[in-house]
Formats: sequence, structure tokens, C-alpha cells
Amino acid sequence: MGITLSFGIQKGGAGKTTSTCMTSYILSRDYKVLTVDMDSQGNATNILTQKDIYQYQDRTVLNAMLERNPEPYIVPVTDTLHVLPADDILVTLDDHIQIFTNPSLALQECLRVIKDNYDFILIDLPPNLGKLTVNGLAASDFAVVNLQSEPLCWKALDRYLELLRLVQERANPNLKLAGILLSMQDSRAAIDSSIIDQVRKDYEDWVFAVTIRRRTRLKEFTLTGITDRTAHDRYALAEYDTFVEELLSRVSQ
Ligand SMILES: Nc1ncnc2c1ncn2[C@@H]1O[C@H](COP(=O)(O)OP(=O)(O)OP(=O)(O)O)[C@@H](O)[C@H]1O
Ligand SMILES: [Mg+2]
Repeated sequence: MGITLSFGIQKGGAGKTTSTCMTSYILSRDYKVLTVDMDSQGNATNILTQKDIYQYQDRTVLNAMLERNPEPYIVPVTDTLHVLPADDILVTLDDHIQIFTNPSLALQECLRVIKDNYDFILIDLPPNLGKLTVNGLAASDFAVVNLQSEPLCWKALDRYLELLRLVQERANPNLKLAGILLSMQDSRAAIDSSIIDQVRKDYEDWVFAVTIRRRTRLKEFTLTGITDRTAHDRYALAEYDTFVEELLSRVSQ
């Protein structure tokens, strides 16, 4: 049975989608991967499929949840990397919530249908603590917390960890913290280094050993699609390669 992992934090622009997409790409070299876009911005859909999100209108994760079956809506990007897309209509989940017996478990129930078909299911969460995030966490075996090394994201961390505990207690006792991933470090900024030092001191082994630094090439992958053809590409992906190794060892323990 596949392992489901989500990438989240309620702070916007913290590297959630980038981490979901790079991890999906790297894992798909050796494993069968499904990436689930739970953000109405559709950024993961856009990066991985390289298509406009409106191509998937009425064929998204929302339709999959409403029908309790993702199969008709899964988009194969390669043989081993599939995407369950999102578009901005995903924010209307609330309007349909009465059709679910347990609204927090809509995604979990839907993904159960295909969980055996994948080694990993990765969920990209939106920048808030609302129903989409709760659904994503309730469907996850492991949560990766994206901590951008900047003050407002750091302030958001405790609240996000509190939500993880609530989801564990009330909706998904299987949920475990995979770890805190420090992302988007500006290596020249003293404030980034001091936040990283403090987070490592406070959260010790919960923090992944690797820190993801800012790399322009990672941003360019949004427009070109993710590749590892050139040395420049591989250099940009190297920290995510290290992250994936550590992630695999954490989730297999
Ligand atoms: N390590 C990095 N180096 C350079 N740019 C990065 C890096 N990680 C992310 N970015 C860029 O920073 C921006 C925000 O990243 P991303 O979209 O992954 O964050 P997010 O947490 O998913 O945002 P949102 O909260 O809006 O969903 C994007 O333009 C992305 O390309
Ligand atoms: Mg995002």
C-alpha cells in the first residue's frame, strides 16, 4: 500500500509546491507516484503537467472527492508520475460539504480507491488552515512541514503543529510528523541563518538535516518543467535529492 505524504504550512510562498513537485519528480525515478493538488491556485498541476490549469476544468480533485473516485481524473505525466489536478473551483468544496458523512475525510475516502496503485501519494496543501488542509492531513500517513527561513513563517510553525495534533486526535490517528524541512534559505542573509539555528535547537531531530537553499533554476522549472538533463539542473536538484534520501529513511522506520 502506498505511503501518503503532505507538504504544508499556512504561510504563503514557503516552498510547499516546489517541495511537492521536486520530491514527486525525484521519487518517480524509482517509484510510482501520484501528486494530488489540494491548492486552488493549481500551481503543482501547472508545474508538473506544464498545462494551463483550466484544461482540467470539471476534471479535478474536487470532482474526484465528490464522486469518491479519483480514477477518471488522474492525469499521467509519465509512466511513473501521475497528477490529480486542481483549479480555482476547488475553493467551493465548502458548498458541497453536506454530501460527505465526515467532511474532513473526503480526500482520505477518495484516495483509498487508488492507494494500492502507487508507492507514494504526495499532497500539495494550500496556505491556510482550512478544510482543504485538514482533508489533506487527514488523508496523510506523514506530514512534511515547510519552514521558510523567514520570521512570519517561523511564527506560523507552532499553530501548524497544533493542527497536526488535532487532526491526529480527531480524524487520522495514523498521521505522523515526517519532519520540518527548512526551505528557501538565502545563504547571505544573517536572519535566515539565525532562524535556522533556533529552529534546529528547538525542534532538534524533527528538522531534516538538509536545508533547501534559494536556487533560480528551481524557479525556472515552473516554466520549463522539471528536468535533470544538464549539470545545472542536477545541481539545482541536489539538495532535494538529499532530502528525498532522508525522507525515505524516515518513512521506512
Ligand atoms: N529553493 C528555492 N529557490 C528559489 N525559488 C524558490 C525555491 N523554492 C520556491 N521558490 C519560488 O518561490 C515561490 C514560492 O514557492 P512555492 O510556490 O513553492 O511556495 P508555496 O508555499 O507553495 O506557496 P503558496 O503558499 O502560494 O502555495 C515560487 O515562485 C517558487 O518558484
Ligand atoms: Mg503552493
